[in-house]
Amino acid sequence: MQKAVTSAEPFVPEARTLPVLRKAVQECRGCDLYRNATQAVFGEIEEKPKAGQHGVAVMMIGEQPGDKEDIEGRPFVGPAGKLLNQCLEEANIERSQVYVTNAVKHFKWEPRGKRRIHEKPTMREIKACRPWLDAEMETVTPKLIVCLGATAAQALLGSSFKVTKQRGTLQHVEGLAPIIATVHPSSILRAQTEADRQQEMASFVADLKRVSKYLKESVGS
Ligand code: URA
Ligand code: SF4
Repeated sequence: MQKAVTSAEPFVPEARTLPVLRKAVQECRGCDLYRNATQAVFGEIEEKPKAGQHGVAVMMIGEQPGDKEDIEGRPFVGPAGKLLNQCLEEANIERSQVYVTNAVKHFKWEPRGKRRIHEKPTMREIKACRPWLDAEMETVTPKLIVCLGATAAQALLGSSFKVTKQRGTLQHVEGLAPIIATVHPSSILRAQTEADRQQEMASFVADLKRVSKYLKESVGS
């Protein structure tokens, strides 16, 4: 039997433009996750930049597409995306300057009754998908990268990185734009009580305000 391929690399085209990459990712067989997903979900800018804006300033990286993203083929269009948009607005970050994507491009899930329940991708799957993320970072050239949650943070900052301890602080990795990691908006949606939810949301907005401050100070956008 042929050994299973575990890297997206052979599937990533040389030509680094978003339309070319977005088309090619649909053919990726770099790990097994394509088998049970509807389609690959590549990154995007939700809105076109307004006149006079600098274009993409921030790349926000989540974990993987959710149920709704898998069906629609677009990142952060479900409940977590709605919460993210609300918090971006509170932090005064223009949505049109944010490119959103995920560490893994196919939805990993397991059936529970009629529902498809999100299953965490393994380190191996995250590594396999990394060439797509690298291609996005190279093409989009963000001024700042924001990791949403431990999966994205550990993908870029290593497995010893702890979001709980180091959230909101500027991190540097050679060859990449500066990185700020924070929690994933889904974790806020899972809060047990309304008071917890409010508090977690306030901390998330506080981290996003650091992102906003960094952009204003260092880029002037
Ligand atoms: N959660 C993610 O990490 N990414 C999405 O696109 C949606 C939910
Ligand atoms: Fe390719 Fe990533 Fe999908 Fe795996 S999850 S098949 S590496 S695009």
